[in-house]
Amino acid sequence: MSRPLSPESSSLRPQPDEPTGPGSVLSDGVEGLALIKPAVRAQAAYTLAALPAQRKLNQNESPYDLPAELKREIMAEVAASPWQRYPEFAPPELLAGLAVHYGWVAEGILVGNGSNELIQATLAVALNARDVVVAPTPTFSLYRLLTGVLGGRYCPVRLAEDFAYDVDAIIEAAVRERARVVVLNSPNNPTGSPLPEDAVARLLEEAGALVVCDEAYQEFGGPTAVPLLAGTSRLVVLRTFSKAFGMAGLRFGLALMHPAIAREVAKGKLPYNVNLVTLAAAAAALRHEPALAGRVREIVATRDRFVQRMAGLPGLTVYPTAANFVLIRCRQMPARVVFTRLYEEHGILVRDVSGAPDLAECLRISVGTPEDMEAVVAALGQILGG
Ligand SMILES: Cc1ncc(COP(=O)(O)O)c(C=O)c1O
Repeated sequence: MSRPLSPESSSLRPQPDEPTGPGSVLSDGVEGLALIKPAVRAQAAYTLAALPAQRKLNQNESPYDLPAELKREIMAEVAASPWQRYPEFAPPELLAGLAVHYGWVAEGILVGNGSNELIQATLAVALNARDVVVAPTPTFSLYRLLTGVLGGRYCPVRLAEDFAYDVDAIIEAAVRERARVVVLNSPNNPTGSPLPEDAVARLLEEAGALVVCDEAYQEFGGPTAVPLLAGTSRLVVLRTFSKAFGMAGLRFGLALMHPAIAREVAKGKLPYNVNLVTLAAAAAALRHEPALAGRVREIVATRDRFVQRMAGLPGLTVYPTAANFVLIRCRQMPARVVFTRLYEEHGILVRDVSGAPDLAECLRISVGTPEDMEAVVAALGQILGG
């Protein structure tokens, strides 16, 4: 039926209950969805509601922003550079600085728009359809998601008592499943468990897989696999500037591996993946690394005091951690209730991980400033009646 064209016509004005704009004509999407791989549709998306909070302890970020004078130094350099030009893939001076900092060869370093991009690139170039990826559980959910999207098969291996790594079980699964890739996150998110000292060497020796060590939190504790790189071409170590360097908003990560493998993994990532602002910021952060390392020591000291204080609260299990976060289990009250009361009554936002397998009634609390952690102890004391 044709509508009257007069602008005065009320039928042309939005009606209060009628949806308007492009959204009002959206179909149910079924036709398009039929063209998306079933393995992708089967995955849970990686999402997080951005709730505003006075004390934000839900994403394992640094509580400390880059110093203002360092930001000014970075912005001055960025302002003087030509924005109409593509950036370099990775400036040689930055690669040289990273090589010195991490103790590896520059030709074996790839930089990424966050380290997550390099996990994706590594899996993309390694996995054939149905190839197996072994990883501990619980762990960072992105490994499962990316494996599914890339058509691989994900094989989780449960952590042991108190979420300690069960290295024998991981090796056994990698051999049994003829795993193409084993992904190990140490210290592990969300449990905080570090790998035992000899775990990666044993795994490289006893299984034939590509071993990806995601060391996003390594600066806060636990061993690093970097010294093993010289002896193998089956190891990829991922590091990030999102945590210890306090640069999550700028997105910078790197992967260290044998140069021959780096040339192949590079084919799995997009060109110009790191923008010139981030490249300048990463180089500046490296120049000022000693000052930033002092903040890591502070966060570790705050964490250790926090864990001690938490041990005195009733109805809680506090798991050992080597990272900048602490996993707790609420034994006398549902974790969801504790989460909600922390947020609504105290302005403290933590991560409710209680819906994940093996994490019933668990919350993950990132380590913030000493004041943040005092506030968490006081709030939990009140909520749990300690
Ligand atoms: C296990 C793990 N790896 C990597 C990252 C960081 O990724 P990116 O370097 O992309 O910020 C996180 C962040 O939460 C993480 O938990």
